[in-house]
Amino acid sequence: MSAPSSSWVVVTGGGGGIGRALVHHFSSTRNVLTCGRRLGPLNETVATAPRPGAIAAVACDIGTSEGRALLLRSLPESVAVTLLVHNAAIGNPGRIDQLDVHHFEASLQVNVVAPLALSQALIPRLRASEGRILHLGTSVAFHPQPGTATYGITKMAFHRLYQQLNAESTDVCVGSISPGMVDTEGVQDHVAKARALGLPHVAFFDQAYANGWTTPLPQLMRFVDEVLQMDGEAFGAQEWRFSEWHTQQQGQQGTSYAAYEKARRGNATANTAAEPRGAAAVVAALVAGFAAGAVVATSMLKRS
Ligand SMILES: NC(=O)c1ccc[n+]([C@@H]2O[C@H](COP(=O)([O-])OP(=O)(O)OC[C@H]3O[C@@H](n4cnc5c(N)ncnc54)[C@H](OP(=O)(O)O)[C@@H]3O)[C@@H](O)[C@H]2O)c1
Repeated sequence: MSAPSSSWVVVTGGGGGIGRALVHHFSSTRNVLTCGRRLGPLNETVATAPRPGAIAAVACDIGTSEGRALLLRSLPESVAVTLLVHNAAIGNPGRIDQLDVHHFEASLQVNVVAPLALSQALIPRLRASEGRILHLGTSVAFHPQPGTATYGITKMAFHRLYQQLNAESTDVCVGSISPGMVDTEGVQDHVAKARALGLPHVAFFDQAYANGWTTPLPQLMRFVDEVLQMDGEAFGAQEWRFSEWHTQQQGQQGTSYAAYEKARRGNATANTAAEPRGAAAVVAALVAGFAAGAVVATSMLKRS
């Protein structure tokens, strides 16, 4: 096994979910700086890591300029920064007429302003070490559903930021991945709130849980590694989807929100009662959707 590198990775939102898995994954070979608003979950991330000594965790709110400054000050000077991962995100569900505008503003700060400001601050150091930036995107950004305005609109702006950074010729490659549905504290909180509001997209989560379609974190980390190993042009060429990679790897039916949405729309068109025709029809359409996904996955591998 090769010796751990002295380079640093910055992962926002490492107190749980995907962020914690990323911190554990990268800290096995590199040093990691991470953050979250709550100290308790951050301490747990460090305590459960394979190499706790390789992790620096800072309690701060990246939605504020003070929080971002605290995070940046915690990064040792003169070390190579090889990766910045924009993972932290928020966004409560709510129908547009009852949407909490203050929460929308807070979500813009965390999901869009913070990634912009942190990228801006770290691009010189990333450039110096031929480092990269990775966005955690979501297909919800591209599939409007009732009650998903805050999360969907801010994540769409976040996606545009990834595109913009690549258009700016900063000499730092910026990539984006869509992880599929990962069972995290954030998802559980979102589903509970959406269910209480009677929002229809809860049906997707229920199906995913019932059918075991959630993304396993170890496989997600393998996918992340493969995406990061792509050459710079391929890395930034499109948002890479776990579901398509997984389909290609397993030769089995995928589970993405995009495919679910396609199935849902197909049902609504075909069925004049506008009610889902049942799980069998949805699953059949999912299979069809992922036959198309496999084509994308094949071209993904050709590029890499
Ligand atoms: N899970 C999924 O199915 C899924 C699907 C598609 C995309 N994604 C994307 O993947 C990323 C991670 O998702 P997740 O489900 O793992 O989220 P999560 O369970 O909600 O975890 C988010 C992490 O970010 C931290 N965080 C939130 N706001 C913060 C702030 N203002 N400052 C600093 N840290 C903050 C949270 O800690 P504190 O609360 O202590 O601050 C927490 O550790 C997000 O970008 C999400 O959009 C997730």
